[in-house]
This record gives sequence, structure tokens and C-alpha cells, in this order.
Amino acid sequence: MAQSRFQILFWSAYSRVYDGLLKLRPYADLVADSVDRLDVTEGAVVVDLGCGTGNCLNAVVAKYKGLPTELIGVDSSPQMLKTASRKLSSDRRIQLFNASLLDWLGDRSPDSVDAAISVNVLYTMQPSDRERFWAGLGAALKRGGSAVVVTTDRPGIGPVAKEHFAEVPLWRAFPPRLVAVLLMNMVIWMFESNSVYDPASLETLVSEAESAGLSVVETQRCYGGSVDGVDVMLVLTRD
Ligand SMILES: C[S@@+](CC[C@H](N)C(=O)[O-])C[C@H]1O[C@@H](n2cnc3c(N)ncnc32)[C@H](O)[C@@H]1O
Repeated sequence: MAQSRFQILFWSAYSRVYDGLLKLRPYADLVADSVDRLDVTEGAVVVDLGCGTGNCLNAVVAKYKGLPTELIGVDSSPQMLKTASRKLSSDRRIQLFNASLLDWLGDRSPDSVDAAISVNVLYTMQPSDRERFWAGLGAALKRGGSAVVVTTDRPGIGPVAKEHFAEVPLWRAFPPRLVAVLLMNMVIWMFESNSVYDPASLETLVSEAESAGLSVVETQRCYGGSVDGVDVMLVLTRD
């Protein structure tokens, strides 16, 4: 089932405050840790599936500097991409596609991506779309390529808030844009409790990835700590 128009509109509305998340320490750490796990070599084609406002691509540029030759962001929300474009357009290697990432993966030539990252996107998909996601990723990734997929598998924000408060003084903890982000997250939880979004367990994700020909190099719980975190990270390759 493709994304509904309403869901695309939701992400476009969210884009107006989304980068308030950069003030949330666990989110900044999540982006940095995810990009750290990506193996980017010289000449690499790197794609961010569901790139949003471009924070992961921005971190790839900062970490790997001149190594990649192509940096591709795909997102179905034009407004998210507008912000990404403002952030990244000075880098001539950047290409942003306003498309369903499932269609983009389906159209991509096999073995044409060296490194793929997708952070907090997969939970928005129903099982049939996740199947298309893994099949598309398994086909597009080159042998020996690297992928990092992060997604939530449980509701709530308690562990994220706890980690944030541990590092940021209370009087600086909630700038207005971050409060707006928290309100948008309530809509996401509503989607989850109404099964519009369908977060899968880590075991299911591992099994789906392996069925698509990917090897799981490492998994870890994150975004709120390695024990209580609300996200799981899968570091993958294709043998
Ligand atoms: C929570 S945001 C994550 C953005 C970014 N990856 C990050 O970590 O900041 C989810 C993004 O996925 C995009 N998205 C969701 N489903 C998509 C799909 N089927 N195709 C393309 N983009 C999608 C949304 O438009 C939104 O920008």
C-alpha cells in the first residue's frame, strides 16, 4: 500500500519544525552514530532513503568529505526536500528526488549503490511495503556494499527524554521548535496506534532483510540508550 496523500501532507507540515530535532541530543547522536556505521569508500554512490531535511546526508558530507562521487536523497515530501536542498545545494554531488523510495529503488539499476542509509522511515510502512523496501535495497546494493537501517520498534519517548535531560540543562531543554516536534510525534503515535504505521520487531526486520539477500553485520538498540532505546539499528551488507 503506497503512502496516502494525507501522510505526505503530514510530513510536509512536519518539515516546518523538523529540524527542531537537531536540538534533541539523542537525535543528533543517532544521526552521527548511523553515519559512522556506514562504510563509504572513494567514488561511492551513497543514497539516503527517506532523507527528510537532509540531516544524514549532511553528516555524510561532514564525515566522508570528498570520498563519495554521488550523494542521493529520496523523499516523498516536497517540503522536506526543500529544506534539504537549502542545506545541501552548495555540494554539487547532491541529487534530490521527490519520489516514493519504493518506486525509486524499483527503478534503480541492480548493483548500482555502494552505501545506503535510512533512518526512521521503515516504521511508516506496512509489511507489504517493507517487503518491497528490502527487495529493492537487496537488488540495488552492490556486493560488499554497506547499508544502515534504523527504525523504531516501540512507542514512546521516555528514554529519549531521559537521555536528553541528562545532557542538557532544564532551562535549555525545550526550545519552541522542539516542543512543536513533540506535538508532531503525538500524531505519529496516533498513526501507530491506529495501525496506519506498523513498526516491526527487530527479529522480523532481521528475517526480512536476510530473505532479501542481505547479511546482518550488527544490530543494536539506540535512540534513548543501548538497553531502553526506542529504535533499532541494523548494519547490513550484501555478500
Ligand atoms: C521521521 S522522517 C526521517 C527523516 C530523516 N531520515 C531523518 O532521520 O531525519 C521520515 C521521512 O520519511 C519520508 N518517507 C516516508 N515514507 C516514504 C516513502 N514511501 N518514500 C519516500 N519517503 C518517505 C517522509 O516524507 C519523511 O521525510
